[in-house]
Order: sequence, then C-alpha cells, then structure tokens
Amino acid sequence: MSINMTLGQFILEKQGDFPYAKGELSRLLRDIGIAAKIVNREVNKAGLVDIIGEVGSTNIQGERQKKLDIYANEQFISAFQYGGECCIVVSEENDEFIHIESEVSKDAKYIVAIDPLDGSSNIDVNVSVGTVFSIYRRKSVDGKATLDDILQKGVEQVAAGYVIYGSSTMLVYTTGKGVNGFTLDPSIGEFCLSHPDMRIPKDGTIYSINEGYYTHFPDGVKKYIKYCQVEDSKTNRPYTSRYIGSMVADIHRNIILGGIFIYPITASAPNGKLRLVYECNPIAFIIEQAGGKASNGYQRILDLEVTELHQRSAIFMGSENMVNKAEEMMACFSPQQTKRNFEGTMVIQ
Ligand code: AHG
Ligand code: MN
Ligand code: MN
Repeated sequence: MSINMTLGQFILEKQGDFPYAKGELSRLLRDIGIAAKIVNREVNKAGLVDIIGEVGSTNIQGERQKKLDIYANEQFISAFQYGGECCIVVSEENDEFIHIESEVSKDAKYIVAIDPLDGSSNIDVNVSVGTVFSIYRRKSVDGKATLDDILQKGVEQVAAGYVIYGSSTMLVYTTGKGVNGFTLDPSIGEFCLSHPDMRIPKDGTIYSINEGYYTHFPDGVKKYIKYCQVEDSKTNRPYTSRYIGSMVADIHRNIILGGIFIYPITASAPNGKLRLVYECNPIAFIIEQAGGKASNGYQRILDLEVTELHQRSAIFMGSENMVNKAEEMMACFSPQQTKRNFEGTMVIQ
C-alpha cells in the first residue's frame, strides 16, 4: 500500500515555491504540526481523564477558560520556544502578546496569532473542536518586535491554517498558493496529504448562523436568512441550516460542501463576536485561497485595519455567490441604519 506524502515532506517540497526562503517558515509550520499532534492526543482522551472542566480563570474577553484551552495554549507556545522561528505570539488565551525569548529565537522573524482551542465549549460533549493560526513576518528589522509588528492587515499574512480535531484530525493550511489538507494517520503518527488543492464550490446550499439570536440580528441578516428559507427550485432553496458552534468545524464542512458561515454584529455583540487577528483573518485567507469570499458584510475581511490584539469583527464567509448575495441584502440597509438597530456602537471602517 502506498503512503501519501506527509506534511513534513510536502512543506519541504513547497519551500521551492519561495526562491529566497531559508526554511524558517517551513520549520515554523512543522512545529505547529507537532504541537497539533500533542493537542490531538489530549483532546482524544478528554472524556477519559480529569482534564475537562473549567480552570476557573477568565480571559480578557470575560469568557471562562477550560483546562484544554490552557493546555493547548501552552503546547503551541512551547513549540515556538523550542522551534526558534517565532518572536511573538498573540493568543486568545493571553491578554497581552508574548515575546518568545529562548536562546534559539534570537533572530526569529515570524509572528504567530493563535486560537489554540476553538469551540472549546464543545469539548465536554464530544463535538469537534479546532485550532486556528495565522503567521506574519515582523516589519521591524532589529530590536524586540513591537505591537506595530503585530497590527498588520490580514492581507499581509504569509501563512494561515486550522486544525480540526474531529472524527478524524486534519490540518489545513495555505501559504498563499492554494489550500492543502492533511489527515492524521494515527497508525504512523503523521499528517498525510489527503485533500490537495482544496476548492470551495462557488455556490452552496448550507447556511451556518446561530439563528437563536435572530431577533438581535441586523435587518440585512434577517433578510438573507429569509432568502435562504424561501422555496425556489432554480436555486435549490430552501437551503439547509447547519451550525455546530465550533467555527473551524462549520468552516471545514462549508469549504468541502459549499456554504456560507455568518457571525454578524448582534445587539449583545455590537462589534461581532469572533476575533479578527486569530479567528477571522486566518480563516478569511484560507477561504480566499480556496476560491471563496470573506467579508464583514460590507468590506473584505483581509483589508480591515487592525488596531487591537483582541479586536472583533462581523464575518460573512464561504461560497462566493452566497457571500455576494448576503452582501447584497446587507446593502439594502445602510451601515448607519444597521448601527441604529442597536444600542451598542458598531465600528465600520
Ligand atoms: P472559542 O471557543 O475559541 O471562544 O470560539 C467559539 C466561537 C466559534 O468557534 C463559534 O463559531 C462561536 O464562538 C459560537 O458562538 P455562539 O455560541 O455565540 O454561536
Ligand atoms: Mn475561537
Ligand atoms: Mn478558543
């Protein structure tokens, strides 16, 4: 039986796409793959050992942290400490960014933003969770990297990816030359190329949104949901509603089958819920590289100004034609009108 190319082999082969590459990005991606395998091992035994449950501390967004959130965060950070290619980590689980100051990291050029465990509330009920990562090159050339090095637009990402810990575990990533997916073969402990050149269908029949918040949605979103539900055989409507509550899992399914994922501004989350730096931008990069579209309802996600580490954004992403239709519905109501729907303030750039 032939064995598919492993993640390590693939990364090395693709290094040739970047003529001046010295292998640093390759090593960083390899380190992420190794940490993902360790996190996978713990996620798999979450039901067996006393590792589930809340630690009790609260992160900067006021959310309760689970033990596995913290465990995953530590694994990725220590992979960067030993790896030597990353100078700063921005993590959902840390209020401030972290300088990596190990001996081997003196000349590190890369900044990593990470959501170590996405969908962590699903751990307790054995539903898929994920990891999301985004990689930037630092802008400054010497001294310690600073906040200015981090606050780059999504369009500046050099690589991004996610890991889905699901019925099988997969790592999907892009370096701006398409998207490739690798499935973990537990028998050899390697991620093997299983989904080369992933392309999201231009159209789909799945919409993913937490409809429980319907009354809190902007009018444009309500209009789009109604559009999805109308009977129309020419466009295969009504569409199917699917919402797991782990963004990575919802996105992964939509990339393969076609669909749209929406987390809009809501009355209680007036700037959206998902975080721009380590959730929206990396997934937007992947979606675009797979031939899809990612927007905040009005503008391309990857072009948004980044002003804060834990900045939030509304997000509409997936199959291009579906996102275009949702934007068309959003455009029926001016952003100012949308803003007036809520007591909170919405940032429209
Ligand atoms: P995290 O576990 O990293 O905080 O992310 C949870 C996110 C995302 O994965 C998911 O799509 C969304 O929160 C679900 O939020 P709602 O429960 O508000 O729908
Ligand atoms: Mn998340
Ligand atoms: Mn998380």
